[in-house]
Amino acid sequence: MPDFEAHVLLVLVVPVLTGSSPFSLSSFFMDKDNRDDFTFAKLSDLKLPVTFRISQLEGSIPQPSVSELLENPELRFHGAQSSALSDLYVSCQLLADNKPLTIPFRTSFKAFKNNYTWNEWITLPIRYCDLPLSSQITFTVWDIGAPRTAVPVGSSTFRMFGKKWTLRRGKHRLLLWAGQEADGSMQTKTPSKLGSRDEMGRLEKLVKKYERGDLPKSDWLDNMAFRKMEEIHAAETEKSENMYLYIDLPRFDFPVIFSEAEAQNQATIPFAPPAAAQTPVTPVLPSYFATDPHLWTILDPEIARENPVEDKHRRLVRSHRSSPYDRELKPNAKIRDELNEILNYAPSQPLNSEEKDLIWKFRFYLARDKRGLTKFLKSVTWRDPSEVKQAVEELLPMWTEVDTDDALELLGPGTVDSRVRAFAVRQLNRADDEELLLYLLQLVQALKFESAASEQRSSRSTTSAISYDDSGLTDFLIARGVQNHTLGNRLYWYLIVEVELEDRLVAKMYGRVVFKFLNKILESENGSERRELMRRQGVLVETLAKRAKELRTSKDPRPKKIEKLRSFINDSKNGLVNIPPLPLPLNARMEITGINAEKSSVFKSNLYPFLLYFQCSDGTEYPVIFKDGDDMRQDQLVLQLFTLMDQLLRKENLDLKLIPYDVLATGPLQGMVQFIPSKTIAAIISENGTLLNYLRANNPDEGSVGTYGVEPSVIDTFVRSCAGYCVVTYLLGVGDRHLDNLLLTPDGHFFHVDFGYILGRDPKPFPPPVKVCKEMVDGMGGAQSTHYTRFKNYCFTAFTILRKSANLILNLVALMVDAHIPDIQHRDVHEQIQEKFLLNLTEEEAIKHFEALLNETSYFTVVLDRIHDLAQYWRS
Ligand SMILES: *[C@@H]1O[C@H](CO)[C@@H](O)[C@H](O)[C@H]1NC(C)=O
Ligand SMILES: *[C@@H]1O[C@H](CO)[C@@H](O)[C@H](O)[C@H]1NC(C)=O
Ligand SMILES: *[C@@H]1O[C@H](CO)[C@@H](O)[C@H](O)[C@H]1NC(C)=O
Ligand SMILES: *[C@@H]1O[C@H](CO)[C@@H](O)[C@H](O)[C@H]1NC(C)=O
Ligand SMILES: *[C@@H]1O[C@H](CO)[C@@H](O)[C@H](O)[C@H]1NC(C)=O
Ligand SMILES: *[C@@H]1O[C@H](CO)[C@@H](O)[C@H](O)[C@H]1NC(C)=O
Ligand SMILES: *[C@@H]1O[C@H](CO)[C@@H](O)[C@H](O)[C@H]1NC(C)=O
Repeated sequence: MPDFEAHVLLVLVVPVLTGSSPFSLSSFFMDKDNRDDFTFAKLSDLKLPVTFRISQLEGSIPQPSVSELLENPELRFHGAQSSALSDLYVSCQLLADNKPLTIPFRTSFKAFKNNYTWNEWITLPIRYCDLPLSSQITFTVWDIGAPRTAVPVGSSTFRMFGKKWTLRRGKHRLLLWAGQEADGSMQTKTPSKLGSRDEMGRLEKLVKKYERGDLPKSDWLDNMAFRKMEEIHAAETEKSENMYLYIDLPRFDFPVIFSEAEAQNQATIPFAPPAAAQTPVTPVLPSYFATDPHLWTILDPEIARENPVEDKHRRLVRSHRSSPYDRELKPNAKIRDELNEILNYAPSQPLNSEEKDLIWKFRFYLARDKRGLTKFLKSVTWRDPSEVKQAVEELLPMWTEVDTDDALELLGPGTVDSRVRAFAVRQLNRADDEELLLYLLQLVQALKFESAASEQRSSRSTTSAISYDDSGLTDFLIARGVQNHTLGNRLYWYLIVEVELEDRLVAKMYGRVVFKFLNKILESENGSERRELMRRQGVLVETLAKRAKELRTSKDPRPKKIEKLRSFINDSKNGLVNIPPLPLPLNARMEITGINAEKSSVFKSNLYPFLLYFQCSDGTEYPVIFKDGDDMRQDQLVLQLFTLMDQLLRKENLDLKLIPYDVLATGPLQGMVQFIPSKTIAAIISENGTLLNYLRANNPDEGSVGTYGVEPSVIDTFVRSCAGYCVVTYLLGVGDRHLDNLLLTPDGHFFHVDFGYILGRDPKPFPPPVKVCKEMVDGMGGAQSTHYTRFKNYCFTAFTILRKSANLILNLVALMVDAHIPDIQHRDVHEQIQEKFLLNLTEEEAIKHFEALLNETSYFTVVLDRIHDLAQYWRS
């Protein structure tokens, strides 16, 4: 609690502003009917305790009805009911933002004769300068009933500040809400005023103005007027069914405008002429006054422009060294809403300078909010050493733990200071191996943004407060990779691909990381064995790649290629028939022992990829497509994001039967893909006519009419997987869809392959935003079937769930901008994806929008032209 200051109410001395100055503030405060000159005082200068007087109660006190008396016999003893006046008392409490600022206070006991008049001053242990703008006082009039029970007679909630942030003064009449206790919440159910005004209300308003000196005084007229008013008053009171409580508030000589104590330097400069900038007496207003249209009808034109003294101004505004109040500063409800809105911005959304200043101002308050850190760091002026120092050395260590999506954002190219990056790395350390594997691809990319790794380090200015030291990301990745073999295996291959890429400087950096990683592995338990496994993986990939290139470029017809491949595998010299147990590079959880030569084949496609059936030590087979001549990294990214989204959906207990198959780029132009036994939609249509025929042939269930003679679980899988892929391909803007890259497994898993075009790119005209073809809809029994309805609902649920993780997905894609992936460079990736999530809409609106997109492809709501376009689109 602030100190109790036993002051008498003072006349406040404040600078008087006149209307003549070109930079006058006075005009902003003028009511149409007010005088020209106007003065005001700041609340922050009012260091007096909050005081008010509870005057009297007027109006008819409701009597309990007979039925109430029957139910609650103790009411009978209420004084209010008997002829003599009962012992009413008033309790009051100061609240703001739904939280009490003081304990409740009450009037002392008093015996009443013919009216309820307390005339009791209450002084609260809080100073005016400490009041939030949303401060309100609740008043409840109590009647003492049976011993130790009090029943509310009526109550009212009074806001301390009126329009234009002015502290209320003088006499007030509060409407009492009968029989209720006062509601101190922000949206109070017991407001002290109702919208409509009676004659008394109007007169009282005038009296208040008169008392404040806002109306010219004229004694004889005034006396007459007051007598008249007494009469009106009596008449109104007589006929009114309402109860009113009268209170008196201190009358200050000037209007007291809400302002906060720390606002000393706030917003002074932009509104003052340059010469006045040094004058300390310039009246001061908090900057957010500028957001109220009533106040700032005129704005300084300088404010919108880039200003050469902007830095100086910001230093003044931010005044981090001279503002000890910032630590304690808490936003009022309005500002809190503003802050909240900023915190909810998507990661890509830039902050304007007002937003930055606001975030900076409340930085200590925000340190408790995990969402606040990324926005705070955006608000730091990184070229200002003192700001950097405070941000990184003082605030960052006290910041609460942040979520993974924010940590990933902090590892992007936007974060230069290694201490911030180190903070992000520490946050990631909380992720388990499973989760880390989901982000590993991006974390390897993030190494590019590490300043310590960069060769240009020496050229950086040494006067800056920014630290370019090692953030520890490399060591973190290496340590986790050494610890977990699955993770380490992926890390190894992600790094190797970067080493082989043409960017020399970056390749060198990754080379150093691989070297360090392998050394750490050697130091670990059984390290040399692990090192040897990695070497053998490299040899395996090299052998296959060499052969794949040979066969691809040879002029042999496909059957000849197949024959050559099989004999190559079968030739024991090549060491592929029998392999000493080796973790498969594509999926280290699979330990391979050889390749099945008979089953292996060559695909009919211009790159002639291999289909290899790996034999695993657990007796299973793991079919893999090995491809040379194609950059697999975009597919790798898409499938990694599919895996992530599948995990997000599963975390919410939604299993959409996705098949996020494994993809691994083993070099810039080669890689492995897990092969899922399945058929293309094109092949099924040509062989079986419809998807349902195909599913029925593989999973007949004659009794099941509702699923068209197909086993119900298979239809369920089909419906779910269609919905899942519908949403995930929509979000990533997957393009170039045709019936040859849509596949279906015999047990109903539908999935997409080949992601050469993403983020809205498409080689074909009129791409539909949602990739649902007619064959899929027919497979569910048509757009009017219950299965289609289920499909739509799965889509909406999945879309809603993934929307909540939009930032995570956005940040992961953003980390790939320097990965030289065709569709992700030089494009506003963020915007592309952000649009898909429809983040500027409410959840409900977004679903509606998504439904409209779905309807476009439902093939029965769509106009004929569109169907023609769609049919064209889906052709191979
Ligand atoms: C209320 O009662 C007090 C005495 O108890 C009296 O002095 C005062 O004038 C009364 N006020 C009204 C408005 O009746
Ligand atoms: C290694 O990580 C994988 C997931 O990435 C996990 O499934 C496995 O259990 C981990 N292994 C150990 C030994 O922790
Ligand atoms: C190291 O190898 C030995 C023998 O092969 C094995 O028993 C032990 O579990 C291995 N340790 C680790 C950490 O893999
Ligand atoms: C593989 O070689 C064995 C003999 O070593 C032979 O019997 C078999 O037919 C060969 N298979 C293929 C697919 O070439
Ligand atoms: C449909 O496909 C199955 C296998 O996928 C095949 O066995 C069957 O002959 C086909 N039926 C028709 C009617 O084409
Ligand atoms: C939301 O943003 C999209 C573009 O990103 C725009 O077309 C649309 O009008 C916006 N909707 C609203 C309600 O702001
Ligand atoms: C989509 O189509 C269904 C079925 O015709 C209809 O009920 C729904 O209102 C449509 N939704 C939108 C957003 O157009």
